Amino acid sequence: MLSIPRFQLGCFPTPIHDLPVLSEDIGIQLKIKRDDLTGIAAGGNKIRKLEYLISDAKSKGCSVLITAGALQSNHVLQTTAAGRKSGMRVIAVMDGAEPQVYSGNLRLSKLLGAELEFFKSERFVEDVREYMAQRQAQLSQEGLKAYIVPVGGSNALGSQGYVNCAREMAEQYQVAGDAPPDYLVVAGGSGGTFAGIAAGCAHFWPTTKVIGIVITTNYFAQPEHMARLTGEAAALAGFDQEWTVDDLELNYSYIGPGYGMPSPAGDFAVNAMASREGILLDPTYTGKVMSGLFGEVESGRIPPGSRVLFIHTGGATALLA
Ligand SMILES: Cc1ncc(COP(=O)(O)O)c(C=O)c1O
Repeated sequence: MLSIPRFQLGCFPTPIHDLPVLSEDIGIQLKIKRDDLTGIAAGGNKIRKLEYLISDAKSKGCSVLITAGALQSNHVLQTTAAGRKSGMRVIAVMDGAEPQVYSGNLRLSKLLGAELEFFKSERFVEDVREYMAQRQAQLSQEGLKAYIVPVGGSNALGSQGYVNCAREMAEQYQVAGDAPPDYLVVAGGSGGTFAGIAAGCAHFWPTTKVIGIVITTNYFAQPEHMARLTGEAAALAGFDQEWTVDDLELNYSYIGPGYGMPSPAGDFAVNAMASREGILLDPTYTGKVMSGLFGEVESGRIPPGSRVLFIHTGGATALLA
């Protein structure tokens, strides 16, 4: 793996531990990687990506980050916390009209110091790119250099956070004397987490089957985009492997009524994890991912007794929205 500059922000390695009660309940050997405990603000997966992106921003002499997300975006919350801790201004472009009351992650992003701007568009993901480029140009006229953090921090550079996470997990298993897991289950949203994990596991844990449970149907989550991003992440890490859609295991069966809309199976998983293991998931991402893990075990596609690792990517603060 190539050494790419990284601005240290999080508390790594995050723990891996057994989930004994749920393991017993569903008949597999289930472990969890606690990336909800990455150490800044409320934790979560974006901190790993931001270590690379902020390093890049600083090397380019930028003093402002511009990013975008949904009103309850975990990405905006984490980018704000990481950016402010790194001494940068953070402009966050939010999808929608300004609400009268700030709740959940929006409230936390404000508290952490985000300069919030509200932008309404039917095609937010596409249109916000132009909006962010315009803001960058305006700031440049004021003599300020701004760095655009892509939605979800998901580009090849950000994905290095999860290539590195794969290396970290392989080391943790080795130190513990454990064989690699048979299956690894992780979220697919804007794609950077899955891409980094898929690229990294192909290198560090080639026998482990990576299953991406996708929680949205937007452009980023399409298999072609995921395969392209995985290939770019692998190439940037210095791994000599091509990626096509057929190389990826992506499952779109657990989205429920749509992105950000709770599903009964996802809510069941949030409840099970809270009441059986004392761990908080969220209804948009990790609850649905865990519902996918349950579903794959129930259908037998993950056979009984399998050694399975679930990556907790954070987001539980959204429960308070
Ligand atoms: C809690 C949580 N889990 C998973 C994801 C998905 O990660 P990615 O966008 O890298 O696909 C997100 C994205 O925002 C998230 O907030």
